[in-house]
Amino acid sequence: MIARSHISFGGNFLILVGGQERWKFKGGTHSYTRKIEDLGKLLIFDTEKDFFAWSERLKIVNVGVEIGENEASLIDYKFPDNCNLIFGNERTGLPKELITNMVKTLTIPQYGEVGSLNVAVAASIVFYEMKRSDKSKYVIEGEKFKSVD
Ligand SMILES: C[S@@+](CC[C@H](N)C(=O)[O-])C[C@H]1O[C@@H](n2cnc3c(N)ncnc32)[C@H](O)[C@@H]1O
Repeated sequence: MIARSHISFGGNFLILVGGQERWKFKGGTHSYTRKIEDLGKLLIFDTEKDFFAWSERLKIVNVGVEIGENEASLIDYKFPDNCNLIFGNERTGLPKELITNMVKTLTIPQYGEVGSLNVAVAASIVFYEMKRSDKSKYVIEGEKFKSVD
């Protein structure tokens, strides 16, 4: 779900950190969903240190996404031009020691009493908001979206 949203909203690299394996779809998975894997540009780092060294070298700033009473609200946030969006693990969230490495950490406002959003839902909301706020344009040709530079 994250990969599909990431590609839909024009994301660049999709990055996995922590020695994770490339995800694998099971045999019965719809073929469209499988193609998503080939459309994405996947980067995998074994350690957080490797990832932070890479983003520093390329001068990409890191923006965290996590629930926290001291974090900034996603509402009206002006995203930096060149940034990574960092989401936490579905079960354990984003570790506090990583949050200190972020230029900013954003919380998506929730209005009901559920603990948190599913990480793929959270990612989709932030991807959408990022594109909406930079006023990216698109056209639809047939039934396909195309971005307009
Ligand atoms: C299911 S949540 C993790 C929940 C974990 N049990 C915890 O308490 O931290 C998985 C990830 O989704 C993102 N997320 C979910 N809801 C969010 C919200 N309202 N604001 C910001 N990030 C959110 C964060 O990146 C979080 O690390």
